[in-house]
Amino acid sequence: MKVVISLGGSIISPNETDFIKIGEHLKKISKEVDLYIVTGGGKTARKYIKAARKLGASEKFLDRIGIEATRLNALLMSAFFGQENIPFTIEDASKAKPPVVMGGTTPGHSTDAVGAMLAREINADKFIIATDVDGIYDEDPKKNPHAKKYDSISIKKLRSMISDEWGKAGESFIIDGIACRIIEETGIPTYVVNGKNLESLENTIYG
Ligand code: UTP
Repeated sequence: MKVVISLGGSIISPNETDFIKIGEHLKKISKEVDLYIVTGGGKTARKYIKAARKLGASEKFLDRIGIEATRLNALLMSAFFGQENIPFTIEDASKAKPPVVMGGTTPGHSTDAVGAMLAREINADKFIIATDVDGIYDEDPKKNPHAKKYDSISIKKLRSMISDEWGKAGESFIIDGIACRIIEETGIPTYVVNGKNLESLENTIYG
């Protein structure tokens, strides 16, 4: 079984014990499942993008800064698997022997889109977005505690809730519009889970 996981940057916190548990858990699962992990940039990306934006850097340049942060996280995650190199392109990632860990690729989208592109390229069985909320809500649950969680949602409805365009570097919605377009085109079963909930993550991987 081939599974692509877009691991949100919020899950990759080097100082937290949660992070070690997640990495070790994924390592164990990678012995049974072909795992392709795409890491987000999290706070590091946002901090650096914010600082460089104040200096007047272009959006494309800010995206490049974000990509470097996602790759820093990918290098850290790759250490769980005893690796010291990460692929920079979808093509190289699709040819590599799993477990594969990578970060971003080119400006103009988030790592969720990279995950969707990789899932399309390798014909993955499922695509999992592991983030720091429990699923897709009708509003941001961090801002509105009464936001309603969807148990499932059609990709058409989700697309009607968000923009198809890439906005600004560092800006984030639960899934970016470019990823949604690829998910709709490929029909790949996609799951949004809280990556810190190991049971939920494992259940999602094994179905
Ligand atoms: P992320 O994928 O981490 O964005 O990439 P995010 O939406 O903030 O995701 P979370 O919060 O970590 O889950 C960070 C930034 O890096 C640039 C974008 O600017 C993005 O917002 N980026 C990343 C790219 O331009 N291309 C890529 O392939 C990946």
